[in-house]
Amino acid sequence: MVVQPMDYDQAITVIRNQITMQPKIGLVLGSGLGGLADAVSERTVIPYETIPGWPQSTVHGHHGQLVVGRLEGQPVIVQQGRAHFYEGYSPQAITFPVRIMCLLGVKTLILTNAAGGLNPAYRVGDLMLFNDHINWIGMGGGNPLVGPNDERFGPRFVGMTHTYDRDLRRTARQAAAEAGVPLHEGVYVCLAGPNFETPAEVRMLRVLGADAVGMSTVHEVLVARHAGMRVMAFSGITNEAIDSVDAGMEASHEEVLDAGKILVPRLTAVLKGVLRVLA
Ligand code: HPA
Repeated sequence: MVVQPMDYDQAITVIRNQITMQPKIGLVLGSGLGGLADAVSERTVIPYETIPGWPQSTVHGHHGQLVVGRLEGQPVIVQQGRAHFYEGYSPQAITFPVRIMCLLGVKTLILTNAAGGLNPAYRVGDLMLFNDHINWIGMGGGNPLVGPNDERFGPRFVGMTHTYDRDLRRTARQAAAEAGVPLHEGVYVCLAGPNFETPAEVRMLRVLGADAVGMSTVHEVLVARHAGMRVMAFSGITNEAIDSVDAGMEASHEEVLDAGKILVPRLTAVLKGVLRVLA
């Protein structure tokens, strides 16, 4: 199987025809976190289904639209909802939007997701800033950079040591402190899903050094880093991962969406602070 190159031109034309500003910062909002886009002013809203090649999100809690406008004065393009590997999309399809943002001139990408807390210190409603990740899906070959390399974006082989920009992380810590929002910093592990983890898997992931577990983000990060974008990512902890078969509870998507209600104001405060510094 050889992965076919994607056609970005039609999507770019549809978006450019509707926007007047040049977005500099891209934001990707995960499960239950779409409410952050409400803070965007001077907004143009473009439904995903009107953009050729754009992957539709089929998951409850994902809005399915692009919002272009200003946040704290900064020109932003916001993906309100994303597509996932577990919905049946290829890694290349999931990351189509990141390539479009890149072609529109976005230099900094900020990603968010809902995640399970593996670190025993993490509680529902906490925020974790990524300082690294484990690409569990990618290790099995589910990597968006597999296939002919598109030299327009970046090189064949990509270093991953400095994936989560150190200056951006410092900015995030400052913004969180100023907003009075506690911020963990840790390692995210991306699994394929859609099932949540077994207790044995939770214990294994802890041994591997992961602090939060989810089903997204890492593909987008790879494509952004391939294209030389600066990357920052946050997990909103929506549930504490269950590590015992005798626990009297079960993880659920409802719990994930409920926690989004606590997380949106916290994430909004931190991201607004970050954008003010980036201005
Ligand atoms: N596991 C995987 N993905 C998730 C979880 C989880 O516990 N919570 C939210 N997304």
